Amino acid sequence: MKLTKILAAAVLSVTVASSNDIMMESMATMDNGMSMIQKGFMNNNLKLVKEGMTLVNKGNNQFSNPKLIKKYLPKDKRHMVNVAENQAKRITLDLNVLEIRLDNKAYTSAATAYSDMLNACSRCHAIVRNW
Ligand code: HEC
Repeated sequence: MKLTKILAAAVLSVTVASSNDIMMESMATMDNGMSMIQKGFMNNNLKLVKEGMTLVNKGNNQFSNPKLIKKYLPKDKRHMVNVAENQAKRITLDLNVLEIRLDNKAYTSAATAYSDMLNACSRCHAIVRNW
């Protein structure tokens, strides 16, 4: 199953926010949140999924302003700031979808919203890292 592969590929590292840099803090917060959501789905622990969602939301809000995002893009990628910003918006939308699906006890499709969030992370990283 595709989703299983995506979940297995997700990095399970627990990152501690150790910097004053807003980007690093935001990324560490989202990283922790995503790991918690994954663990929550794997262990059927909805409380953990929801705690993870709170963290992802917090981290995403810290890094959603296009002016800020632009500062972290390589010079030759600054024209793609809209695409990068759209990934932050996509994460916000996915969080809303995830919440509605959890409320409806539609757990399989809730997990799909999680994997779409993971794709949004990768889409922005692909721009930043020239993947
Ligand atoms: C709008 C763009 C953008 C989005 C969306 C985004 N990131 Fe990042 N991320 C960055 C940038 C910029 C860096 C720093 C450059 C690098 O590491 O290549 C980074 C780096 C990271 C790092 C390494 C941080 C470090 O200390 O070196 C982690 C972990 C990370 N992101 C996690 C995530 C997760 C998890 C998500 C999705 C929930 C996500 N990111 C979504 C832009 C983004």
